[in-house]
Amino acid sequence: MKLSHKELRKKFFQFWKARDHKEVPPIPLVPQNDPTTLFTGSGMQQLVPNLLGAPHPLGTRVFNIQPCFRSQDIDEVGDNRHTTFFEMMGNWSFGDYFKKEQLTWFWQFLTKELKFNENLLYVTVFAGDKKNSLPADLESRKIWKDLGVAKNHIYEYGPEKNWWSRAGVPDNMPPGEPGGPDSEVFFEFTQIAHDKKFGDHCHPNCDCGRFMEIGNSVFMQYKKTDKGFEELPKKNVDFGGGLERIIAAKSNDPDIFRSDLYLPIVEALEKISNKPYRENSVKKMMRVIADHLKAATLLIKTGVFPSNKERGYFLRRLLRRITIKLLKLKGSLIKVEDLDMVVDSIVEMYKGIYF
Ligand code: SER
Repeated sequence: MKLSHKELRKKFFQFWKARDHKEVPPIPLVPQNDPTTLFTGSGMQQLVPNLLGAPHPLGTRVFNIQPCFRSQDIDEVGDNRHTTFFEMMGNWSFGDYFKKEQLTWFWQFLTKELKFNENLLYVTVFAGDKKNSLPADLESRKIWKDLGVAKNHIYEYGPEKNWWSRAGVPDNMPPGEPGGPDSEVFFEFTQIAHDKKFGDHCHPNCDCGRFMEIGNSVFMQYKKTDKGFEELPKKNVDFGGGLERIIAAKSNDPDIFRSDLYLPIVEALEKISNKPYRENSVKKMMRVIADHLKAATLLIKTGVFPSNKERGYFLRRLLRRITIKLLKLKGSLIKVEDLDMVVDSIVEMYKGIYF
């Protein structure tokens, strides 16, 4: 069943509001008072002080849908799922509810609200990290079991996959940084056969494309210190789910570029190039152009201008890649009016949301 992005947004809002959460307004793609990062790359970015213990004016339960830009993913764009711009559906608990409520609620959201088939969902939990004396997350494993998730749908991974902090694995975290074990949910596209090039056996974190991560519940319960890991005064939840990916999974279509958050752009590109997206020789190019144009449009809307440093440099890089790929795609220069049509499709899709 197809799910439109507008419907998904509505369901997500209603779901968290019904559980006493307040909407925390998303921050711009370019954070205003945060010198630590050039772009907003996750919903928790504006909430770091609250995850470390500062009270939030909206209380202890918040949610939102945060536009994100991850410049570090630029070279992965072109496959069926990676983009530099995406929207993260998030909910947070600041020392309020913890693992049991979070996993139960996300499971309910997927299986009851969105009516996902449970047989196609897999979950992962933290296997522990001996080196940093971080224990395995047996509690989450038990919660998933109690929710009825079959034993062979629960996988355990170490810190490379089931630990989250802005700096990545525990070893890379600077002192003062919050982090914790996480538990991810994956959707299985049974129509994709496992490719042995990625290993003998397929599993949720296999890169063959059969599985797609759709949501990540981070249990922010530690802070790194000079002496190792210390429990935070309050245990928090930091959830992030990919809006575009949940739509793709719900449509049982592994290509996010065929969802209503990309299809209008792809169709505009088909029109100006006179080439069909389904052709393998152009597919990758169209995905890169669609992602970069969307990211560039939203960055410009936020006030970024092309330049040779920092944010402006990334925008310039996007624009350069768009120009080169468009030239290749069409075989001749694109007219400005043609480009207008593509940008209009982006503005139209986000009318009432970002425009
Ligand atoms: N911060 C986590 C992530 O970015 C969950 O929101 O995946």
